[in-house]
Order: sequence, then C-alpha cells, then structure tokens
Amino acid sequence: MTHSIIQDEQPYELINKDSYIDHNQVSFQFNNKNNIQHLNEESTTSSSKLIEQALIEHISSIDHEECEAGDEDSFFVCDLGEVIKSIEIWQKYLPNILPHYAVKCNTNIEIIKLLSNYGINFDCASKTEIDTILNLGIDPSRIVYANPCKTNSFIRHANQSQVNLTTVDNVQELYKLKKYHPNCGILIRIITNDETAQCRLSTKFGCDLTTCINELLPLAKELDLDIKGVAFHVGSGAKDFQSIYTAIKDARIVFDEAISMGFNMKILDIGGGFERETFQESSKMVQIAIEQFFNTEFVNQHEIKFIAEPGRFMVANAFTLATHIIARRDIKDSQEVDAMLYVNDGVYGNMNCILFDHQNPIPYVLTHENKFYYNHQSAKNFSFSIWGPTCDGLDCVAKSSKLSHDVAVGDWLYFPNLGAYTSAATTQFNGFKGEAKVIYVNSASSSSSQ
Ligand SMILES: Cc1ncc(COP(=O)(O)O)c(C=O)c1O
Repeated sequence: MTHSIIQDEQPYELINKDSYIDHNQVSFQFNNKNNIQHLNEESTTSSSKLIEQALIEHISSIDHEECEAGDEDSFFVCDLGEVIKSIEIWQKYLPNILPHYAVKCNTNIEIIKLLSNYGINFDCASKTEIDTILNLGIDPSRIVYANPCKTNSFIRHANQSQVNLTTVDNVQELYKLKKYHPNCGILIRIITNDETAQCRLSTKFGCDLTTCINELLPLAKELDLDIKGVAFHVGSGAKDFQSIYTAIKDARIVFDEAISMGFNMKILDIGGGFERETFQESSKMVQIAIEQFFNTEFVNQHEIKFIAEPGRFMVANAFTLATHIIARRDIKDSQEVDAMLYVNDGVYGNMNCILFDHQNPIPYVLTHENKFYYNHQSAKNFSFSIWGPTCDGLDCVAKSSKLSHDVAVGDWLYFPNLGAYTSAATTQFNGFKGEAKVIYVNSASSSSSQ
C-alpha cells in the first residue's frame, strides 16, 4: 500500500534520509555554541518537518497487508533537537543551577547520553537507575540518589559504587545511612505545598521544618553524619510557583540552623516540577527567591552550589507517538461520539501517563485513505472515543475526542509531546509489548547544516 503526503492540502515530496542522526557520530558538548542552536520559529518548522519525514518513512515501509505480526506496532519519533533546546533554555534562565536529569522520567539511553555529553548530571531513584548511569561510564559524583526512602541493600550498593549524595526525610533513614553508608553526603528533603501540582509528591515525601530542626539535624549530629544541604520538590507539573519561593525560604531556615550546629552546608537542590510552557515564570520565581534568601555574600561565604532535578522539562516535548487504528465500532444514536476507535497503544503501554501522570494525550490524524496529514490544519468535525488494545475497559485513551477525518481501520493517529512519564512505566499486560521502537531525528543538527 502506498501513501501520498498531504500538508495544508498540498501534496509534496519526501524524504531526506541524511537528516537522521548517526548514533555513532553524535557528539554534543556542553556550552559549545556551534552545537547549541538558537531554535526559534524556523527550527520549530525544521523539527516538525523531520518528525513528519520520520513518521512517513516508517509507515510507508510497512506492508500493512502482509507484514509480520507487530510490524505495525506503535512507535515514537524523538527529536533530540528538542532536548538540546530544553538544555539551552535552562542555561538561559537558570545558568546558576546545575540540572540533574530525573532518569525516572524517561530512561531512554540516547537521551541520557546526550544530556551527559552536554554536562547535565543525574537524579537516580534506585539501584537500576544508578547502574544505568554508571554503565555508560558516567562518574558517580554526577549522581544524586534522590530517594528519601531507600532499600538497605541499595544504600550499600550506592556506597560500593561511590554514589555519595542522597536525600533523607526521616530519622530511620539516618540510622540506615550511619550503618551502610556513613560518609554519604545528605540533603534533607523538606516538605512543600504542592496542592495544585499535576502529580503531588509532598503527600509522600518531605519533612516539616520542626521535624527537620528538632529531630533530624540533632540526630545527624549525634551520629556524626554529613548533612550537606537541603532538597525539595514542588510537585511534578507544578502550577503554583509561590511554593518555590516558600520552599527556598524554608531551605534558608534549615541552612541557618544547620550551619549554627556546625554542619558544612553546601548544596541547595530545588528539585523538579518545571515545564517548558511555564519556565519563564517558574525560573523567575527561583531567581527572585535565591536572590532574597541565598544572596551572593552568603553563597560565597559557604561556597554553596545550586542543583535541580528536572525530568519533564527536558524530554516532554521531544517525543511523538504514532499509533495504528486496529479496530473501529460505529455507534448509532450517540450524541457524543460517532464511533469507538481501538489503537495499538494505551494506558497499559506508552499512554500509562493518563493514569499515572494525569496527562491527556491529544490525538491527531496521521494517515487516512492512504494520505498523510501530519500537522494538517483543518476543522475537527468527527468525534470518537479512543481505546487501547487490551481487554480491560479501563484502557481508554480518550472518552471523547475530535478528529479531522472520519478515520478507519488501518489509519494512523499521532500524539505529540509524549516524552515524559510514558515509555518509562509501560507494562506487558495482555501480552502487548511495552517497549516501542524509537526513531531519532535531530532538528539541532539539521538547522546547523542549513
Ligand atoms: C525526587 C524527584 N526528583 C525529580 C523528579 C522529576 O520531576 P519533574 O519530572 O516534574 O521535573 C521527581 C518526579 O517524580 C522526583 O520524585
């Protein structure tokens, strides 16, 4: 089956294979202005062109009538240029804060390598994440083991691996560290107000200031542990940036108390919760609060370093998911939807973010009647509910969604911006493969060659 390509109603030619990256030749460097492009409107176009080409090339290579089982599985297109763009934006707005990418957000090795090559460090939550980073030859000093409740054997593993910085929010964890990793640097994780965040974290982690000052710091002193600073997280997909201000203010209170007790306080870890869409606002709040509570004199006097643990910010915009429509059921007499569509990825696969991360992936028509419609601007007049491939009724991608065409079995849909908390938490429920193929493009390198 062949497809022709439609964009804004105009068919046009493809495909420039040279625009794909060669993994063996990728070499990025932190602060290398030749590599870091100013990715403006033009590069956004170049990004969507490359994504489109990759989508078209892969789908066109599938013989839908005769292919092997699973050849038409859902797949991602990842634009590494979008990750580079995130790094560039971070450097522009928070140049004084060294990001430690939260590996849990997307464990894709190419992303981790790229971030590492740009000098980004890592936040690991478990032994496996630590090993993922160390197996790439990345130095353990670039890892913060940012899980306040760790398994004993994992703490021993961190000790053996020379991962020497972790977070703590309870007294039991201090006793565990004393026993299994007594020289580990410790950041006290304090609680934040994350009520309006997309995913709350302070319901589970973080100690209040009273507990920190009256219990944790004195016990750490007694145990002769190395309290090095404070960490917090304002919730993933944070919406209330006032909570950043309050957390930094609270952190200063802990710094003062700890310094007065003789601790060598050197690190403020402002966690994650950032998004590209609101970064100007959130980063501004960070800078205002730092200026107020961690002024230059105080910072220089104690040689304080600022770090962060962004996940979503780095990768959310870099991944587009393409799914195949495997079945359709027309609904008569429904006010809400014309039909039910069944696609080959869902909430047990790469769209687990619907359940775990409160995301609402937005579907668009990619192919219909053998034509491609990526980035096609037209009215969305057709209503569908969209379902994943498993036999579970919970596996619903969208209860009611508008699409531009009256799509049929065999057509493809795409979902942009699915890089964060998607592939990282897939299951193989019902025997469907969790891991999806990833096709890489790089709008940063293509715009540099223009
Ligand atoms: C300790 C910690 N750090 C960082 C992150 C990353 O957060 P985000 O993806 O919102 O930046 C998380 C997310 O759960 C986390 O638990």
